[in-house]
Amino acid sequence: MANESLSKAKEAKNDEFYTQYHDIEKEISAYLEYNPDVFRDKTVLLPCDDPEWSNFTKYFAQNFETFGLKRLISTSYAPESKRYKFGYVPTLFETEAPHFDADKSKTHGKIFVLDHDVTGDGRIDVEDLQWQYLEGDGDFRSQEICNLRDQADFIITNPPFSLFREFLAWIIEANKQFVIIGNMNAVTYKEVFPLIKDNKMWYGCSISSGDREFGVPEEYPLTAAGWRIDENGKKYIRVKGVRWFTNLDHGRRHQQLALMTMADNLKFSRHKEIRGKESYEHYDNYDAIEVPFTDAIPSDYEGAMGVPISFLDKYCPEQFEILGLTQFGCHDDFPDNRRYNDYKEYISIDNSATGSSGAKTNENAVLQGRGEKKTYYMNSEGRIVHSEYKRILIRKKQ
Ligand SMILES: C[S@@+](CC[C@H](N)C(=O)[O-])C[C@H]1O[C@@H](n2cnc3c(N)ncnc32)[C@H](O)[C@@H]1O
Repeated sequence: MANESLSKAKEAKNDEFYTQYHDIEKEISAYLEYNPDVFRDKTVLLPCDDPEWSNFTKYFAQNFETFGLKRLISTSYAPESKRYKFGYVPTLFETEAPHFDADKSKTHGKIFVLDHDVTGDGRIDVEDLQWQYLEGDGDFRSQEICNLRDQADFIITNPPFSLFREFLAWIIEANKQFVIIGNMNAVTYKEVFPLIKDNKMWYGCSISSGDREFGVPEEYPLTAAGWRIDENGKKYIRVKGVRWFTNLDHGRRHQQLALMTMADNLKFSRHKEIRGKESYEHYDNYDAIEVPFTDAIPSDYEGAMGVPISFLDKYCPEQFEILGLTQFGCHDDFPDNRRYNDYKEYISIDNSATGSSGAKTNENAVLQGRGEKKTYYMNSEGRIVHSEYKRILIRKKQ
């Protein structure tokens, strides 16, 4: 129970990561480079934001005219509805407004709208944003925010980490274009993977490795490695495995990977796991070969191949088709052909049984032999197998 509430608290505080301006700029520039009119005469909704300090709001408001936007709408979530509570203090911007309401400030969300020159300075920019309290708390699932979603052409934000699947489903059910940021592993959720497989969603362009820095609330406990406080006292943490997810086209995804033939890989690969081998290993339970590195995909192999999830950073839909993922509920069109219910799990270091059944490894990418992992599986005849990491099953396009 203690563990459960600890992990809930962790999840809740991970809902409060604020995206940096330059990360937003870099990503959105890639769509503009591909299609300079992508936002022309369109309505952009930035939900789950905190418009007074959000860089999403700032970026789109500042570029309103350059992008040719029709309308920018940004909404925030009421401080008292947030799962991670921190000492909320309204900004001067809010308290100095004639319609400031101390109660609503805590219990209502806010809406910021930009669609015309309010100040009369001949420009439409961040100074022309107009705000009011929402009727409700700004929960993206509320009817009020669903109505805003339905009016919008684009949904762009960093949604709460704990509600990523629900947020994505909320966009998809309304059939909207989107750019959102989240953890790369979200692609392995069984609700999310079909979108990747069917080319209804892909990774964005500007992040394909390393970690990214996010702003966090002042009270955020800085326990993990990789944090910093800037000269103004603002706190930041570094987060690994972050990716943009989108259904907007960009140039990178149409660049084909330059690859070597299978024979050349076996002779010259920079990976010792490939170089000098006679052949690529074939899975024990899928009709596909194991390719442990994206740059070791053989250019001339016509059959199915299992590749790491990071392949998606290089995926070009004209070059490969995605067949499935070695995960429950993600490979209906590419079934596994062996189960391990009559195997037992053993610890590699001392060959002791863990007490778990081999059923644990069903539907994983399974290879014969012990492998390098901490555990392996063996049946009563002494047949030994081990599982590899999650693999995406792909095939070269003809
Ligand atoms: C990851 S933060 C990102 C904020 C902002 N988009 C940015 O990147 O700077 C997600 C925000 O969504 C808010 N939030 C959490 N649950 C929500 C919900 N159900 N509906 C709307 N917003 C929610 C969080 O409180 C937080 O402010």
